[in-house]
Amino acid sequence: MNPLLSRLQPYPFERLKQLFADVTPAPNYRPISLGIGEPRHATPQFIKDALCAHTDGLASYPATAGEPRLRAAFTDWLARRYGLQLDPATQVLPVNGSREALFAFAQTVIDASKSKGLPEDAPIVVCPNPFYQIYEGAALLAGATPHYVPSLPERNFAVDWDSVPESVWRRTQLVYVCSPGNPTGAVMPLTEWEKLFALSERHGFVIASDECYSEIYFQGEPPLGGLQAAERLGRSSFKNLMAFTSLSKRSNVPGLRSGFVAGDAELIRAFLLYRTYHGGAMGPAVQAASIAAWSDEQHVAENRALYRQKFAEVTPLLAQVMDVRLPDAGFYLWAGVPAALGLSDTAFARELLAQYNVTVLPGSYLAREVAGSNPGAQRVRMALVAETSECLEAAQRIVQFIQSHST
Ligand SMILES: Cc1ncc(COP(=O)(O)O)c(C=O)c1O
Repeated sequence: MNPLLSRLQPYPFERLKQLFADVTPAPNYRPISLGIGEPRHATPQFIKDALCAHTDGLASYPATAGEPRLRAAFTDWLARRYGLQLDPATQVLPVNGSREALFAFAQTVIDASKSKGLPEDAPIVVCPNPFYQIYEGAALLAGATPHYVPSLPERNFAVDWDSVPESVWRRTQLVYVCSPGNPTGAVMPLTEWEKLFALSERHGFVIASDECYSEIYFQGEPPLGGLQAAERLGRSSFKNLMAFTSLSKRSNVPGLRSGFVAGDAELIRAFLLYRTYHGGAMGPAVQAASIAAWSDEQHVAENRALYRQKFAEVTPLLAQVMDVRLPDAGFYLWAGVPAALGLSDTAFARELLAQYNVTVLPGSYLAREVAGSNPGAQRVRMALVAETSECLEAAQRIVQFIQSHST
C-alpha cells in the first residue's frame, strides 16, 4: 500500500460525524444544517435540458482536451468576466470539477525526487490556514510537505505571505491561493498578487489559484482573478500560474462535476499529459451542459442576488451576538464563538446541535495548529446554502442559544 496514504488527515465532515456521535439533537426543533458547503439553490432548467439533449456522443470516448466548442466557451467567458484574451487551443483545459483538478495538479507539478529522500529537503506546498483540505491531501500524496500560512481576523483574513521564512520559500514548488477564500470569504488584492508573483519568479514555484467562489460576491466589484491580476501587472504569459474555476457554485451544479483550468500554456501541456493517463476526460453530455452554462450570465446574476438577499438578512442578526461580518465573497459566514460562553468551537457545535438542532462546522477542523495555535479555533463556519427562511431560522436559534448561555 502507498505509505503516503497514512499521512492523510480525516476529512472535516468525518470528524464532525464523530463529534456528534453521542449527541441527541433537540427533538423539538426540525434539523437545519449550515455544516456542508454544498450549493442548494435550484439547477437552472436550461442546463438540465442541454445535458439531456446531448446524449448522442456516448458511443465514443471524449478527448481529454475537450471539444473545441467547449474550450471556446471557457475563453469567451474569461474575456467577458475578466477582459482576458486566452488561446482556446493552448491555455485552457476542462476538468471534472475543481476538486479533482486541484488534487491532480499537485501530482503533475511536484518533483519529489528533489528531496533526495530526506524529509528536511522534501518539496513544500504552501497553503492558507484555514484552508480547503484537498490542498493538504494533494501535497502529501505528491510527496511534499504542506506549510500553512495563517489568515487571521487581525489582517482581515488576508493570508500573511510575509510570515513565510526564506528557507521555506526556497523549497516551495507549489502555492495554493484560495480567493475568494473558503472559509474566510476574503478576496486577495492586486498588491498581494504582486508580492506572490515576485516570490514565484525568485523561487520558481507554481501558483494554483482556486477561484471557485468568484461569482458569489457582495461588493459592487467582482473579485479580482489571478489571471486578471497577472495581466494587470504585465505578466500576460501567465508563467507559473494556473487558475481553477468551476460551475458547481456559479451555476448550482455540484453534481455535474464541471470546471476548467486556465493559464500558463506550458503547465497546461504538462497537465493534459498527466490527465490523459489519469483518465480526466469530460463526458460529452456534460461538455454540452457546460457550454450552455458558461455561455449564460443571467442565471448567475439571479443566483448571486439570492445569496445577497440571504446574507443581508442573516448577517446582521448573527452580528448582534457573534464576531461576524459580511464577507467579500463566497457563501460562508466565518464567525467567532463569543469568549463569554466559555465554549470551544467544538463544544459550541455540540451544544448548539443538542439544544437547537442546528449544525455548524467547528473552525478548528478547517485549519491546522502551527506553533501552538490553530487559526480556526474559536470560530465556526456556517454555509448559507439553504433557503433564506431556513437560514434565518437557524440564525434566530443561534442568537437564542448564545443569549441564553451569556446570562
Ligand atoms: C475552496 C474550494 N475549492 C474547490 C472546491 C471544489 O469544488 P468543485 O469540485 O465542485 O468544483 C470547493 C468545494 O467545496 C471549495 O470549497
